[in-house]
Amino acid sequence: MLLFYATRDGQSRRIAAYVAARLAERGIGAAPHDLAGGFPGPAELAAARLVVVVAAVRYGRHLPEAERFFATYRASLAPAPLVFVSVNLTARKPGKDTEAGNQYLRKSIARHRLKPVLAVAVAGRLDYPHYGWLDRQIIRLIMKLTGGPTDPQSCVEFTVWKAVDGIAWRIADLHG
Ligand SMILES: Cc1cc2nc3c(=O)[nH]c(=O)nc-3n(C[C@H](O)[C@H](O)[C@H](O)COP(=O)(O)O)c2cc1C
Repeated sequence: MLLFYATRDGQSRRIAAYVAARLAERGIGAAPHDLAGGFPGPAELAAARLVVVVAAVRYGRHLPEAERFFATYRASLAPAPLVFVSVNLTARKPGKDTEAGNQYLRKSIARHRLKPVLAVAVAGRLDYPHYGWLDRQIIRLIMKLTGGPTDPQSCVEFTVWKAVDGIAWRIADLHG
């Protein structure tokens, strides 16, 4: 299994590491790799049994290295089946964790004409003190509009780890 992540603030890396730990309990080895450090070409994607991508959203899109990866994946002749896990804050809302309910998942899948065997969105982490001034103001405004926390001191992990357990089990079953 190939397990990749794309992150800026670390939450997608933590989610990928958590999935890897759950898979290890099922005897499946999958070391998480940062897509920013490069990724394998079509031959390796074809040789794998399953390809898992955990990618963060920033300003409406998955990180550029994830988008580049999907383009390579799509251009490959016979890549292994794809599992797409999107990490964003919209997914904290009920019904926004599925392909049908999450616009980022839906748009990336459509843009690259992907056919993932599993596509889910996971709620990420909000960390105002860590953000630069402009990002902080913009995200506070988005949170104000969507009923989220706006206190500039707040740091909230919305990730529901039990849900990530469920995703890891589904990945293990897909791997077989
Ligand atoms: C600059 C910035 C832009 C973001 N844009 C979005 C967005 O458009 N939609 C969304 O749902 N979440 C957005 N988020 C929330 C991130 O997806 C969330 O914080 C996630 O946990 C980040 O993943 P990472 O820690 O792996 O980088 C944004 C976060 C930051 C810091």
